[in-house]
Amino acid sequence: MLRHALEAQGHSVVEARDQKEAEAALHASRPGVVLSDLRLPEGDGFGVLRASKDLDPELPVIVMTAFGSVQDAVTAMKEGALDFLAKPIDPDHLLLMVQRALAQRRLATENILLKEELAQRRGAPQIVGDDPKLRQVSLALHRAAGTDTTVLLEGESGTGKELFARTLHALSARADGPFVAINCAAIPETLLETELFGHEKGAFTGASVRKPGKFEMAHRGTLFLDEIGDLPLSLQAKILRALEEKRFERVGGTLPIQVDVRVVAATNRNLKAAIAARQFREDLFFRLSVFPITIVPLRERPGDIVTLARYFIERFCRDLNKKTLTLSPAAEDELRAYLWPGNVRELQNCIERAVILVDGDTIHPRHLNLSFRDGLVSRTQEKVDEDNGPWSKVDLSGSLADVSRRAVVEVERRKIELALKEAAGNRGRAAELLQVSYKTFVAKLKEYRLEA
Ligand SMILES: Nc1ncnc2c1ncn2[C@@H]1O[C@H](COP(=O)(O)OP(=O)(O)OP(=O)(O)O)[C@@H](O)[C@H]1O
Ligand SMILES: [Mg+2]
Repeated sequence: MLRHALEAQGHSVVEARDQKEAEAALHASRPGVVLSDLRLPEGDGFGVLRASKDLDPELPVIVMTAFGSVQDAVTAMKEGALDFLAKPIDPDHLLLMVQRALAQRRLATENILLKEELAQRRGAPQIVGDDPKLRQVSLALHRAAGTDTTVLLEGESGTGKELFARTLHALSARADGPFVAINCAAIPETLLETELFGHEKGAFTGASVRKPGKFEMAHRGTLFLDEIGDLPLSLQAKILRALEEKRFERVGGTLPIQVDVRVVAATNRNLKAAIAARQFREDLFFRLSVFPITIVPLRERPGDIVTLARYFIERFCRDLNKKTLTLSPAAEDELRAYLWPGNVRELQNCIERAVILVDGDTIHPRHLNLSFRDGLVSRTQEKVDEDNGPWSKVDLSGSLADVSRRAVVEVERRKIELALKEAAGNRGRAAELLQVSYKTFVAKLKEYRLEA
């Protein structure tokens, strides 16, 4: 009957007659849930429970017991059983319990993975780049790490604010404590207060248990308030108070809670403008910006572009078990010429895509796909004479991306023609003039159908 009920729901069932068979089945078929009677012809349910837990401590075990021997079931739960079913067994109850057990197991696995990921991130956040502008920012970060003051990280989207916040924590005396992040823009206003400060049992409908907030969880560690510019005004006052007094109350609570937390806030909005627009409290801004650090956008530290690209190539190749790819000189040029409106995150995505696309051992411009993007307002554009430059020839219909793509094609074609002329048709010499490899040059000739 149990087998039927479970199979009807799409589960597959392995049966065992006694403890010994159960142990063999456990090893042979690695089930997601174990369902065992406490009394068995040979051995008993406690033995099955122990064997299951030996195999995998997270494996959920549900025991079944005759009405009247609930005491045994309680003992089983103390020894690690997830739950028990009293006989006669109600199939609906059984199915519900099995489903819950499977869900719980999934959560347990995810939890382990998240912890590993966190440990990895905590262990080695790596800020890559050696452009002098980035070095200045890193220096400021190290200085701030040595203190316990509030730090405000400002920077465009994708510049590395979260990475810097994690690094700051890892470098600080609080490194052994927790790093707790909350994204103020991602949580609905109504939930944000309880997320930050927690709530008492019964504080509102649905608050069936007391729940600690992020401020409490970050005790002795670092609290990262991401996208602080999006914090609703109503909460800004409460945060300010918590920061100033290092003390707050849970929602529905009256007892003040003391915490020892260093706050790092980040924003990609201009907070001064938000203050002018009365969307951000000036007093909170002053409280947060004791130690402001501005992360320079990638286009203002072009020295970092290729360095970061090489770092990401190595990382993604390692992840994909590929041998490390190299960047063709033309690809490097294109990376440097692009303005990276999405900053390091965009570069990272671009490289990831290229690493997946490439079959050989070199990344060429066509793998980067940059000429199709809006940010290619190439650095050389300003220098081109409007009237007889190649721009006069470019068809201006369609989207910005369309126009950019045509413009790049046109400029490259013209430059290649010029180089060929200058080299009197010698391809090797023309490639040298353009500072691209011979292979790249020939590929370009083909692409633009310039071969004789
Ligand atoms: N200097 C760097 N070295 C290595 N990786 C970096 C660097 N800067 C940014 N990254 C990586 O780029 C990605 C984006 O960074 P992060 O999420 O920290 O940016 P952000 O400023 O928080 O962006 P957003 O405002 O969109 O939330 C991350 O994967 C991060 O690890
Ligand atoms: Mg971020």
